[in-house]
Order: sequence, then structure tokens, then C-alpha cells
Amino acid sequence: MSPYAHIAGWGMYAPAKVLSNQDLERMVDTSDEWIRSRTGIAERRIAGEKESTSTMAVEAARRALARAHLSPRQLDAIIVATISPDYLTPATACLVQAALGADRAAAFDVSAGCSGFVYALHLAHIGIAAGEWRSVLIIGAETLSRFVNWEDRATCVLFGDGAGALVLVASDQPGGVLACVLGADGSGAELLSIPAGGSRMPASPETLSQRAHTIQMDGRAVYRFATHIIPEAVEQVMRKAGLPLSAVDMIIPHQANIRIIEAARKKLRLPEEAFYINLYRYGNTSGASIPIALCEVAEHELINDGSVVVLVGFGAGLTWGAAAVRWGVPLPQPARPWHQRVLYLGRALLGRLPAFLRKLLYRLWHILPSQRDG
Ligand code: UT7
Repeated sequence: MSPYAHIAGWGMYAPAKVLSNQDLERMVDTSDEWIRSRTGIAERRIAGEKESTSTMAVEAARRALARAHLSPRQLDAIIVATISPDYLTPATACLVQAALGADRAAAFDVSAGCSGFVYALHLAHIGIAAGEWRSVLIIGAETLSRFVNWEDRATCVLFGDGAGALVLVASDQPGGVLACVLGADGSGAELLSIPAGGSRMPASPETLSQRAHTIQMDGRAVYRFATHIIPEAVEQVMRKAGLPLSAVDMIIPHQANIRIIEAARKKLRLPEEAFYINLYRYGNTSGASIPIALCEVAEHELINDGSVVVLVGFGAGLTWGAAAVRWGVPLPQPARPWHQRVLYLGRALLGRLPAFLRKLLYRLWHILPSQRDG
């Protein structure tokens, strides 16, 4: 029998700096009234100077691992969903792997726009169901503030930074991830993109002056796509899970725009309380928005053991994805005694030591031959 993929831990990280609509009024020709009425957003978080996608991902991951009572060394795979990685290469997941000391884990990124986290969840699910992995860490993390044109009012008011993580573990107990559906329509690739910095348009003084390294979006077209794809994906995933739509307890949509969510809700004929919305406080955090929202739902105990939760995303690509999950973790997890917490911390710190030593070795390796040659 195939193992089930259960969510055993969750964690999120939001940077401390808050950028309000009033702050934006001082930066571009916009108003709090426009932003709230057209998007629902009131404020967003902005990463600090020393923060990046990987550092926020690591914070969220540590919290998820602690809640799952799992040490990083037990992880078989780390998948980071992001469109704002630390580097084009290596993958942000590798930086997370080293920082956590998860030295048994495979590590790679998924680039699927704001649907990235659902794509990552599906990969974790099939890896576990195939018996290949027992414990997988998936993270949605974004530092979109570094890819926004702060002079373009049409986009800069929308996005924010943050990270959310889940730990999935194999179990023989039925439940956990019930079904996933994924899709893409590459003919809409140009509707939402960062044109420069890749092989098609390498970085140059011209691309910099044209701000071609920042997010370019046809908002109206993406809006139309989103309002029809959310209900479609939710219905598809529930059918695949073998459940009626009425069995859904909570839908956690990608947090892009309150009007998109509201239009999708009406098409699905579901009550307002069936959708969790937190975009007022974070804006659109792309791949991080679904896991951040799920963390809040779990933290506030808005779902119970046995609740059916649907995660649904859409975004650049164009891509979309939905996952139906039967929540099965006893909430809240019992607090661990202090000596176990110290043990966990000790293991986590020691776990980072081999990666640190290997990094040192790679540097020495680099220096020594050049000294010999000289
Ligand atoms: O996460 C990935 C997917 N991304 C999305 O889901 C975004 C989907 N799109 C949207 O959420 C909406 O299309 C937006 C929020 C981006 C824009 O809302 P909209 O109602 O579609 O506005 P619009 O683009 O049709 O613009 C309406 C007007 C325009 O002025 P004119 O041409 O009517 O005079 C814009 O120039 O609003 C103007 N405008 C603004 N005004 C004040 C655009 N941005 C702003 C702004 N402040 N920040």
C-alpha cells in the first residue's frame, strides 16, 4: 500500500518592516483608497538589508521542523518554490539545505510563479506515495521587493516578502494530501514576467536603464485568467479526491487580490467563511502566500482533525494548481519538555557543522593549488 503524505509541521516568517499604503502614497501617484478598493491590500512586509529569500526560507523551515519534531538530518528532500531566488544558480533550496545541516536531503527549486508552492506540494506527495521519500520540507519564499519597479504604481503596490514552510511525512494512516491538479498555459508567458537577466536578455546597462529586471504584468489579463481558473481547479481537485464540493471546510487561495477571490467564491457558490484571506496584511507574496496563509489557519486552529482544506494557486507561466488535503495533525502539538528542546537545538546546531566544515574545505582547496602554482 502506498504511504500517505501528511502535514506534520508548519512555519512562517514575515520580515519586520511594514510598508503601508500611506507609505506608498509618498512614493508613487497612488492612494490608500485605490489600493484597498482595487486589491484589498493595506500593508505588506519588506525584507531587511541582510535578509534574502534563503534566510527567510530557513527561518520558516526551522519553525516547521520544530513543530514536526523532526531534525533536519531526517529530511530526504527540500523543495523551495520561488520566483525571487537568491541566485540564478545555485538553487535556493541548496542554501537552505546547508544552513539547516540537512545533509541527507536532495535540494532543488521549483519555478512555477504563484502556483509554485502547490507544484512543490505535489512533488512531495508523489515522492512520498512512491515510497522514495519519508520526510520532505517544502517552502514558498519570496523577496519580490527586490524585483519590483518602485516607480511603477501598477505593480509596486501589490507585492510583499515572506516565507512559509511545511514538513510532509509518510504515514500508513489514511489522510494528508488527497489529490493535486496542476496546469500551465505557456501562451500567456508574457503576461507576467521579469524579462531581463536570463539567457534571452542578459543583463546589460540597457536592460538596467529600461528596468527590464523588474516585474512586468498585464494585470487585467491575469485577473481574467485567475477568476476562471480558481473555481475550475477547485472543482477538478475535489473530483479527483472523490469528494463533493460541499465537503470543503476551508479554501486557501493564492492571496493576490480580494476581488479575484470574491469572484471565484461567487462562481463556486461558497460562503465567505470558506475562504481564508490575509492579503490585507501581506500583499501578494507569490509562492509564499499559500503557505503563509495555511500557517495562520493552522496556528489559529481554524481547521480541525479531519477538515478538508483546498490550496489553490495561479500565476506566472501561466500556471495553476490545486491540492486537496485532509488535515490530520493533532492540533496543537504538545509542547516538548525543556530537555528535549535543548537536545533538538543542540542537534540542529551540530547538524550545521559538517556543511560549515565542507564549505571551509572548498575554500582551502581553492586557495592551496593557486599558492602551489605561484
Ligand atoms: O500573483 C500573480 C498574479 N497577479 C495578479 O493576480 C494580479 C491580477 N490583476 C489585478 O489584481 C488587477 O488587475 C490590478 C490590481 C493589478 C489592477 O486593477 P484593475 O482594476 O485591473 O485596474 P486597471 O489596471 O484596469 O487600472 C485602472 C486605472 C488605470 O487608470 P486609467 O487608465 O483608467 O486612467 C490605471 O492607470 O487605475 C490606474 N492605476 C492606479 N491608480 C492609482 C493602476 N495602478 C494604480 C495605483 N494607484 N497603484
